[in-house]
Amino acid sequence: MGKNKGLRHVAIIMDGNGRWATSKGLTRSTGHEKGTLNIQNVLRAFSDRGVLFVTLYAFSTENWNRPRNEVDNLMSLTVSSISEQLEELHSEGIKITHLGEKSSLPEEVRVAIEECETLTSSNKKLVLNIAFNYGGRKEIVTAVKQLIREHICPEDLTEEDISSRLYTKEIPDPDMIIRTAGEMRLSNFLIWQSAYSEYYSTKTLWPDFGESDVVEALEEYSKRTRKFGEL
Ligand code: IPE
Ligand code: IPE
Ligand code: MG
Repeated sequence: MGKNKGLRHVAIIMDGNGRWATSKGLTRSTGHEKGTLNIQNVLRAFSDRGVLFVTLYAFSTENWNRPRNEVDNLMSLTVSSISEQLEELHSEGIKITHLGEKSSLPEEVRVAIEECETLTSSNKKLVLNIAFNYGGRKEIVTAVKQLIREHICPEDLTEEDISSRLYTKEIPDPDMIIRTAGEMRLSNFLIWQSAYSEYYSTKTLWPDFGESDVVEALEEYSKRTRKFGEL
């Protein structure tokens, strides 16, 4: 199916679950549930069009500042949706990796995420990176701490030294960052890796984002000229 002009990696800020629910008179947690159910369709739509890496922003380091019941709900939803969706993702050849800090997550969430990573580690069809308890600034600070521990000589420090100590060390930078629900900001997502990513914002709320939205985003990408500072 359709060409994608060398687009390998799409990263998505899955925003708008709350607004989707509120507009229908439903609870925010229903919005999050609906959003989670949307993931497999979107993955399939990208995979069918040759995309090899999809990164999903599911929970930011700043999302801990939401009301306690919403945070608890997002944690338990993560565990239950992993248990509902993992087998199918695995059978479709999807390799799941986690971007973010595991140590401060509730035990059952950490265990569920590790189960995803272990079960799917040899899959080859598509890499799904789940950014959960992810913050771009925290990621950079963690990399710098590691470099200091390694006694790196300041004069020798390169961009590659930092890149290779980020959570994303094994994956290419995102070619395109999609944000649903209309906001025009990165919200601390992949701030190092997105230096030259194409940015795409759609008003569509995440639970409504479907195959036709994927096609639209890829079409828009195909019209962009990536210059990387050159002429
Ligand atoms: C995105 O939807 C999901 C998370 C941040 C966990 P929101 O919950 O941010 O939805 P809005 O922005 O309130 O509509
Ligand atoms: C970004 O959405 C985080 C995720 C989608 C997980 P937010 O809804 O948290 O971002 P802000 O607060 O509007 O910037
Ligand atoms: Mg939001």
